[in-house]
Amino acid sequence: MVYPIVFFPQPVLETQAKTVEEFDTLELQALVDDMFESMYAAKGVGLAAPQIGISKRIAVVDLSVGEDAAQRIVLINPEISSKSGTQISEEGCLSIPGFREQVTRPNKVTVRAQDAKGEWFETSGEELLARALLHETDHLHGRLYISHVSSLKRDLIRRKVRKLIKAGEWK
Ligand code: NI
Repeated sequence: MVYPIVFFPQPVLETQAKTVEEFDTLELQALVDDMFESMYAAKGVGLAAPQIGISKRIAVVDLSVGEDAAQRIVLINPEISSKSGTQISEEGCLSIPGFREQVTRPNKVTVRAQDAKGEWFETSGEELLARALLHETDHLHGRLYISHVSSLKRDLIRRKVRKLIKAGEWK
């Protein structure tokens, strides 16, 4: 099932999501499957549950956008366990469509997370994968990428979004 994407400034996007405590259930597996389906439908490389209106610490990442099953990553209750280096690149978000900003991020990260069965694992990434892991983990703490840009740029985005909402061009 494809869920509609929740757009900024819906409060669920800036709310700390709840830790998942029940694993290995049909419901959890179905939600993870639906998150991949919803992410592919939106042509994204990452999706966090709050972006479909579900305030739980679950995110999916697939840099191949469905082309390569080996690149699917399911992150439940993820935390960044180490980070190093710096990268500066453009970043966007399915919940803030039409906007992109330069965001400075660590170049390499390791994430500790649980899978759908509740098993803890660690995964590492560099460059774009590091950016995706950080962006999605941020989402689950209620942090959007625009919290990493200057307040001037953030206010400009807020103003533009307000205009789009008024014009009925933002869902
Ligand atoms: Ni996002």
